[in-house]
Amino acid sequence: MSFLRMQETAHDQLIEHLLDVRTFSETITNSLEREDFVIQSMPDVSPAKWHLAHTTWFFETFVLEPSVPDYQLFHPQFRFLFNSYYNAVGDRHPRAHRGMLSRPTIDEVRKYRAYVDHALAKLNVEQLSDEVRSVIEIGIHHEQQHQELMLTDIKHVLNINPLRPAYRSDLTTPEPSEPQALSWSHFDSGIHQVGHAGDNFHFDNEAPRHEVLLRDFQLANRLTSNQEYLEFIEDRGYQRPELWLSEGWDAVQQLGWTCPLYWERVNDEWQTFTLAGMRDLHLQEPVTHVSFFEADAFARWKGCRLPTEFEWEHVAQIYQPGPQSNFVEEDLLHPRSAPTPDDQKSPAQLYGDAWEWTASPYIAYPGYHPPDGAIGEYNGKFMSSQWVLRGGSCVTSKSHIRPTYRNFFHPEKRWQFTGIRLAE
Ligand code: AVJ
Ligand code: FE
Repeated sequence: MSFLRMQETAHDQLIEHLLDVRTFSETITNSLEREDFVIQSMPDVSPAKWHLAHTTWFFETFVLEPSVPDYQLFHPQFRFLFNSYYNAVGDRHPRAHRGMLSRPTIDEVRKYRAYVDHALAKLNVEQLSDEVRSVIEIGIHHEQQHQELMLTDIKHVLNINPLRPAYRSDLTTPEPSEPQALSWSHFDSGIHQVGHAGDNFHFDNEAPRHEVLLRDFQLANRLTSNQEYLEFIEDRGYQRPELWLSEGWDAVQQLGWTCPLYWERVNDEWQTFTLAGMRDLHLQEPVTHVSFFEADAFARWKGCRLPTEFEWEHVAQIYQPGPQSNFVEEDLLHPRSAPTPDDQKSPAQLYGDAWEWTASPYIAYPGYHPPDGAIGEYNGKFMSSQWVLRGGSCVTSKSHIRPTYRNFFHPEKRWQFTGIRLAE
């Protein structure tokens, strides 16, 4: 294969992958009714219509406008409506009011997507600067982040409805199976490398690669199960301030937490809301929709702790995502109990199923600099008061995740598929 031909293939692959990812956003929303597209059930949630438009705005603003001569915006006011948080791009519609927009309609948003996709498909990648090509890659990963948010936001929107409607009634529920017994993998102390290395895509917040000192530690071989979490509840975990961080205890009081989000007592039995609607709580499945504060209190009650993000990453560099991982491609859209591993020593569910809260604050790595320009606002400015989560979930795309990937949320947030892995 000639060099030129290879270049062309790389070009076609980038645009092909981009258009595949764009299509998946529409696939996700094909199961919605028109009325579902508009609702914002809480300020953290964005309407599905907004997600579809914002990811499109991202490509228009950061790829098409700078690189296509005489590019005509689809609509001049969409810059204001669908800018999420980029001060460098100007004023924007307030986040908490995203659910008040009956216009543009979903049909207009779909036209907006088609218009932008058409322009993206016509790009000649060889004529683009390295910078624009790298922004296309960011745009792909950005769209995948919003696909995950769309699914968790839709779950929240449907759950606040007393009818508890299913997002999809055709989803497979895995048969309850006994999870493997909780055991521990041991790792030796040492100075280890963490952070991104190499040419593959990564977000700015995963770099620079650097050394960290780890003490001897043990990591649980699977996620914490509903059964184990229920024991914490039955041992009055939510009534005992000594188990909680001070801000966590405040959250318990103020928000009235007595169980994970989406758990409900129905006729004296625990049920849980899923994207397939209400169903019995399967005790073997990993607990999910817990906050950092609940994960931390549970670990303390167990006499354990949460792993740091660097302990997690050190282990994850040894065990890469495998075919057993439960990502969005499995189409379960729910965590499942840990499969019996081929090799007893490898920790299960490091990737997929549920994001794992770590004991690490979301802060810059030594020597980190956000990129210049508006894209510099993507990750860097959120490096305060949030906690790092690792590993991806049952609604994360497989091609989106890697050992160095850092997700982050405020410690009281529960609407993502967030779970617990113990360390000691
Ligand atoms: C990394 C998931 C916290 O939700 O704002 C979306 C992802 N960044 N658009 C978020 C993101 C820009 C981000 N999280
Ligand atoms: Fe975004």
